[in-house]
Amino acid sequence: MNEPQPHADAGTASSPPSSSSSPSSPAAGAAHAAPAADAPLALRGDKLVKRFGAVTALDGVSFTLGQGEILGILGDNGAGKSTLVKILTGFHQQTEGTLYVDGQETLLRSVDHARALGIECVYQDLALANSLSIYHNMFLNREIVRRGPFRLLDHRQMRERAAQCLDDIGVHVPSVDLPVERLSGGQRQAIAVARAVHSNAKILLLDEPLAAMGAREAGLIIDLVLRLKEKGGLSIIMIMHNYAQTLDIADRIMLMQRGRVTFEQRSAQTSVPELMDIVRREYRAMRSTNAH
Ligand SMILES: Nc1ncnc2c1ncn2[C@@H]1O[C@H](COP(=O)(O)OP(=O)(O)O)[C@@H](O)[C@H]1O
Ligand SMILES: [Mg+2]
Repeated sequence: MNEPQPHADAGTASSPPSSSSSPSSPAAGAAHAAPAADAPLALRGDKLVKRFGAVTALDGVSFTLGQGEILGILGDNGAGKSTLVKILTGFHQQTEGTLYVDGQETLLRSVDHARALGIECVYQDLALANSLSIYHNMFLNREIVRRGPFRLLDHRQMRERAAQCLDDIGVHVPSVDLPVERLSGGQRQAIAVARAVHSNAKILLLDEPLAAMGAREAGLIIDLVLRLKEKGGLSIIMIMHNYAQTLDIADRIMLMQRGRVTFEQRSAQTSVPELMDIVRREYRAMRSTNAH
């Protein structure tokens, strides 16, 4: 059952070292991200396996995320992308394999544990409270209360801080008093990202942030993510659907198929046709298997 090498098919540029941590040569190689030369990788997974009963969702996934890097993950439905993200957020624990956060071997026990280490996730289904205002949502479960015996919410301060935070990262809304349900899908996603960043995230995980968005809305989120990267201090994993968007935004891409990483490359060194070709080959192989 042991799968020794998850980077099976294609000319993988570099696979992560299997045992020694070698921070000076992140597989990332995101030249323009310019992290400190000796900074440890933000995240590294080594041969992660996740089984749900008889289902093997992850079958030996190894990956790296460099400091300040954007890693785009592509792959069909059921490939294991969300499962990987849920392990990185502490929601699931891997069945086998090791995770390193900032170079330290770490077993993430819970979502709170991951958060305490600066790992924040924006989920596919956003988990915003739609009837509440933007500023309420920014402070959901982290409300600022006034001093004194009654612990009254400090609305003025939350309003100001929310507006400041959105302004800082270039998200424009008419008013932070607006209920979230009045916003477009793209704006809602932007608020969810802002909330995660505002809570001091060092590693941001986005599970299909552009799903069901038109080109203009998607552009809004892509610009936001690129601005966050510019500001520095944040390493980002994005699960994506659209190859062209992924190559635009990510420093490096990783393709997952049936619980494995089958291709990994710096964005500058691959192309939409190459990615399509890999997926097409897989699809043809599956068809011919099914035909027999
Ligand atoms: N909680 C769960 N219980 C059982 N099976 C699951 C669970 N979560 C995911 N799976 C299975 O694991 C596989 C990978 O799912 P997922 O990670 O959601 O894929 P993706 O996000 O790439 O579409 C699928 O076969 C899915 O049905
Ligand atoms: Mg998914």
